[in-house]
Amino acid sequence: MMEKIEIEVNGQKHSLEVEGRMLLVHLLREKLNLTGTHVGCDTSSCGACTVHIDGKAVKSCTVLAVQADGKSITTIEGLQDGDNLHPLQETFKSCHGLQCGFCTPGMIMSAADLLKQNDAPSEHDIRAALEGNFCRCTGYHNIVKAVKEASEKMNQVAV
Ligand code: FES
Ligand code: FES
Repeated sequence: MMEKIEIEVNGQKHSLEVEGRMLLVHLLREKLNLTGTHVGCDTSSCGACTVHIDGKAVKSCTVLAVQADGKSITTIEGLQDGDNLHPLQETFKSCHGLQCGFCTPGMIMSAADLLKQNDAPSEHDIRAALEGNFCRCTGYHNIVKAVKEASEKMNQVAV
């Protein structure tokens, strides 16, 4: 059965008809062509599909598209400010926080949520916040470094 939903994605409003069983991640990728959000597992465990729903990091393979009705979604494509990359997008590049890049969108969206709540996270805080995100290239050390550097950059801008 098709259901009508209204959602805002990266600041753009969409009115869509979706099947009741469609997952949010598939809506983003297949109906809106926002393929930066990845699907890495069938078990809600890898975190590659992480987006923000009303500002909170959520695994979009755990949410039905109809449950996102009326909500505001941000994906990795919407994280940058105009032409300016988000500090996390910059530090993942500069600190070599990505290898194949498959986990990177989910890592960055989880890290962005952490930095909203904790502007000076310790290495332990970062590792705890990212424990639901798997990197199959196992580049965790540089990922943690990238998040730390982004928090420092953002604090400098805020001063
Ligand atoms: S695809 Fe959602 S957690 Fe793996
Ligand atoms: S960079 Fe390849 S899975 Fe993380």
